[in-house]
Amino acid sequence: MRDDAMSVRPVARIARGVAASDGAGVKLHRVIGNPALPEVDPFLLLDEFRSADGADYVAGFPDHPHRGFETVTYMLAGRMRHGDNRGNSGLLTPGSVQWMTAGRGIVHSEMPEQENGLMWGFQLWVNLPARDKMIAPRYQDIAPDRVPEAALPGGGKARVLAGAFAGVIGPVEGIVTEPLLLDLALPAGVRAAVPMPRGHSVFVYPFEGDAVVGEANANVPRGSAAVLGEGEIALLGGGNAGARMLLAAARPLAEPVARYGPFVMNTQAELRQAVADFQAGRF
Ligand code: CO
Repeated sequence: MRDDAMSVRPVARIARGVAASDGAGVKLHRVIGNPALPEVDPFLLLDEFRSADGADYVAGFPDHPHRGFETVTYMLAGRMRHGDNRGNSGLLTPGSVQWMTAGRGIVHSEMPEQENGLMWGFQLWVNLPARDKMIAPRYQDIAPDRVPEAALPGGGKARVLAGAFAGVIGPVEGIVTEPLLLDLALPAGVRAAVPMPRGHSVFVYPFEGDAVVGEANANVPRGSAAVLGEGEIALLGGGNAGARMLLAAARPLAEPVARYGPFVMNTQAELRQAVADFQAGRF
């Protein structure tokens, strides 16, 4: 029997997020991309922004560049206006996801379209391999009603943002690192077993309630990320009060990472070129 069983990924480490500020002074909880957890290859950064006090977010993220990776914005509450130097613009509303492939370069702004009330969501950065860092920029703007939901036994739900789970395929397409990105809502006592390829990097981030992860039932408190070890299944549950969490998995790149603010390349020389290109208006 045991030889047939799928192996469950254990918790390899738990890292607590830290308070941070970015953009023009937006208060954040930085979960990946801090000194304790610099990256989970290919994930370079995870920020949670959550405040009902406009002073914490109203300054937003005015014009700034990106090159060499992808930014994923997932909104739970509030409205964020997006615009860029190529004339693209859009409104991110609760439940929507934007997957932006910055590629060779984009200059954009992300500004709250409200001055008070709850603003809650995430930004995740996903690296691009060396051969794709200079591809043309691309957006996938996914409205809330285009994100399908899988119903799980026992009353759990999974919004499938990218990849596939329980026969449901997410709307984000054509991403080179083959990501799986789920928003899982698990009532107390409900477990989700999520299959995933061996070799992919995986983390879990509970943002409501505590999560219980793996066969050893490791408790992962809200606001901390659990990085999972190797195996074929991620086994996830809510604690006594249930939980809601992000589950992210993707193929690691195993390439050198050179990062400087909003530029993520492979070498210092490429970073210098990125700065020079941005300053010369070549984005
Ligand atoms: Co940005």
